[in-house]
Amino acid sequence: MPLSNRWTLTRYLIEERRRFPTAGGDLNALILDVSLACKAIARIVAFGSLGDTLGASVVPQGGSVNVQGEVQKPLDVLSNEIFIRMNEWNGNLAGMASEEMDEPKQIPSAYPRGKYLLVFDPLDGSSNIDVNVSVGSIFSILRAPQDVIDSGRAVTEADFLQPGAEQVAAGYALYGPVTMLVLTVGNGVAGFTLNPNLGEFVLSHPKVQVPPDTTEFAINSSNARFWEPPVKRYVDECLAGKTGPRGRDFNMRWIASMVAEAHRILMRGGVFMYPRDTKDPAKPGRLRLLYEANPVGMIMEQAGGRASTGRQPVLGLKPTALHQRIGLVFGSKNEVERIERYHHDPATRDSGTPLFAERSLFRN
Ligand code: F6P
Repeated sequence: MPLSNRWTLTRYLIEERRRFPTAGGDLNALILDVSLACKAIARIVAFGSLGDTLGASVVPQGGSVNVQGEVQKPLDVLSNEIFIRMNEWNGNLAGMASEEMDEPKQIPSAYPRGKYLLVFDPLDGSSNIDVNVSVGSIFSILRAPQDVIDSGRAVTEADFLQPGAEQVAAGYALYGPVTMLVLTVGNGVAGFTLNPNLGEFVLSHPKVQVPPDTTEFAINSSNARFWEPPVKRYVDECLAGKTGPRGRDFNMRWIASMVAEAHRILMRGGVFMYPRDTKDPAKPGRLRLLYEANPVGMIMEQAGGRASTGRQPVLGLKPTALHQRIGLVFGSKNEVERIERYHHDPATRDSGTPLFAERSLFRN
């Protein structure tokens, strides 16, 4: 299809906004600035370890001092700075929070403040950078509490602790063989491919839908001995394939880059699990609620999939901390619902129930 027949991200946002005649355009402006941050990060990621010699002030993971004595920043720190610089000035935000910052980031007093909060993971899956595997940025947009907007007071952690169902928009950029931006503004999910010649995100995947059924699952099975019985049961049944209760063979994938797994699942279905486990009693899950589970959860639900803690829909949870971790299961609706059923089934629900532990193919 010629470019002239395709919508750019800007056009998509304007067409969406027409559905809300009173909307002022702040959200659109904010999303475009987020997309610019993603384009900048995509560019830096694409230079890889050449970045330093080609002028991008970047080196691979780890960060160190280069031969000129300049401090070189790890890519995730640099990506965080890009998100901040691209978004702090625009007057649309009351504050930001990210995986890379312990505390919320205030908008500098030199700039006007706005009515939204931006929460992000600037470089998800960044342990994959060194091995040239896809990484991405994830973002979530919330409304600032009314008293923040009215009073202009500094934002606090509590202002960000809103259930995922309150998100106004969410998305991710995937830095893979092509750079893509996948976005929801609450009216389905649209995927945009970066046209590198124009530097524009172009609508390539309108109305993305997650198939409700799948024969593909993703889980880090090195954690099998720490899984709870419902997860063991689900995975064992998948592994048993045609000869087991599911009556069909399953395939498995694990990229260790959630944004890449989310994208695969959006494109062809599947189920992703990083469930609550017993590995570290201080950590009830590995992934973060506010800037990983919630935005990906909104995208999945908007695409007809489902996102859950394993026990309940993730978007209904009231967060208790900015960097809260959570067990996360998302993807094809019927599979996620099955996993939830297993968590509620008395036969598998309670840890220590021997039935499935004994049968487990991953038994100790
Ligand atoms: O943000 C955490 C993350 O990098 C995810 O992108 C990914 O799914 C997960 O960690 C990988 O975890 P593990 O190292 O246990 O495979």
